Amino acid sequence: MNNPNSNPNPKGHVIVLPYPAQGHINPLLQFSKLLVRKGLKVTFAATPYTINLIHEPTVSVEPISDGYDEGGFNHAPSVESYIESYRSVGSKTLSELIMKLRHSSCAVNCIVYDSMLTWALDVAKQFGIYGAVFLTNAASVCCIYWEMKLGNLVFPLEKLVFPISFPGLPTPLGVSDLPSFIARPDDHKGYLDAIMGIFHTLENNDWVFCNTFQELETQALDGKWPVIPVGPMVPSAYLHQPSSEDTAYGATLWNPTSSKSYMTWLGTKPPRSVVYVSFGSMATMTVKQAEEIATGLKASKKSFIWVVKESWEILPEGFISGLSDAGLVVTWCNQLEVLAHPAIGCFVTHCGWNSVLEALSIGVPMVAVAQWSDQPTNAILVEVVWGVGTRAQKDPDGVLSGKELEKCIREVMDGGKSEDLKRSASKWSESAARALSVGGTSDKDINEFVKILMSGKG
Ligand code: UDX
Repeated sequence: MNNPNSNPNPKGHVIVLPYPAQGHINPLLQFSKLLVRKGLKVTFAATPYTINLIHEPTVSVEPISDGYDEGGFNHAPSVESYIESYRSVGSKTLSELIMKLRHSSCAVNCIVYDSMLTWALDVAKQFGIYGAVFLTNAASVCCIYWEMKLGNLVFPLEKLVFPISFPGLPTPLGVSDLPSFIARPDDHKGYLDAIMGIFHTLENNDWVFCNTFQELETQALDGKWPVIPVGPMVPSAYLHQPSSEDTAYGATLWNPTSSKSYMTWLGTKPPRSVVYVSFGSMATMTVKQAEEIATGLKASKKSFIWVVKESWEILPEGFISGLSDAGLVVTWCNQLEVLAHPAIGCFVTHCGWNSVLEALSIGVPMVAVAQWSDQPTNAILVEVVWGVGTRAQKDPDGVLSGKELEKCIREVMDGGKSEDLKRSASKWSESAARALSVGGTSDKDINEFVKILMSGKG
């Protein structure tokens, strides 16, 4: 399980603890790789269910139990019981790991933990080492949770007047623009409690990192709450450094379609002619929704790659066999590689924060089809604040119609706004690269952190 870190004599040693989902492992593993490159030793603590899916040679990987070693999260009866199990079993196994690593050449002096796992800070305090939380959402989304913790956003929401302006938020929000954990708290109690747990203890951390960058969210990062932007956590080959060897996150929890098939196919398509469709790792698609997307893609008359990680039986009968050269359906792909291909002209996305940052960093305009969680807020930022996409409207049953999808794809690919969208996307991609280049805002803050840990304190 142990892989050597690149620095043979590191002075600082960090345990990085992700929540075991793709959208959380990716940014935390990317942060780990950056820290190793800057000279720290990093041990990535992964659950037994995900550990074999992590392939990053520069980072040591060690197991930590969430209490569901066999089937992981999917075997837990509810979100609440999973989070509770991870709290009790995880605290114990994390402590054991710290003790085990005490005998290694460099003892652990900091835990960087995912924002879903508040209890890791208690473990850090118990051992008298540094604790740093890593927020995997946009800073603007975090501002909303911060307002809740301050008591400025209270239930029932009906008592408030919408649209509502929050300090730090660059645009007023309607109820449906709020994270679904707040807009529909009864549907997501486990997640809301876990997230609010973080915001109630935020100031107890030695560092609060956020996967964003200064230029992107200036207002949300203006000092009203303690946060350090260190993103975007996107491999450097996709941040205007094509010669970089950092070309992937290093973990895939899904069984991917062979990249050769879709990359070869993309190579036959003209620049900016293909639509890429993916709704990330957590949202699931209904048969009705799959039918509407299939209809919309066909009607748009554009070539497309569509990630359908669910059983392909949800697709309309004859859809795959009738595709010819017009489109590809894949189970899972290397999203970064696809987005960076010159043939891609538009990303139909659920607006998961990693997907948004990837599209911004690579410079691909978006059709925003938010599903849940932070995605409705991300979608409004994409359209209204950053001008890099258009939001698709769903019908009252929450389904995106084929007609609406077709309209939005045309708007982004060929409509009156398309040139502006491309220009903004390209502007943000330059800004993303600047943040992590030598002397950039995120790079400087990461260096500060590394310097303190290398001094051996904690
Ligand atoms: C969820 C939330 O939606 C997100 O906003 C939150 O911050 C983390 O948890 P998820 O639904 O997985 O994440 O979406 P996203 O944040 O976009 O992460 C998905 C990751 O999987 C991306 O890094 C993307 O590159 C990768 N991916 C997706 C692939 O590599 N291949 C695919 O086919 C699809």
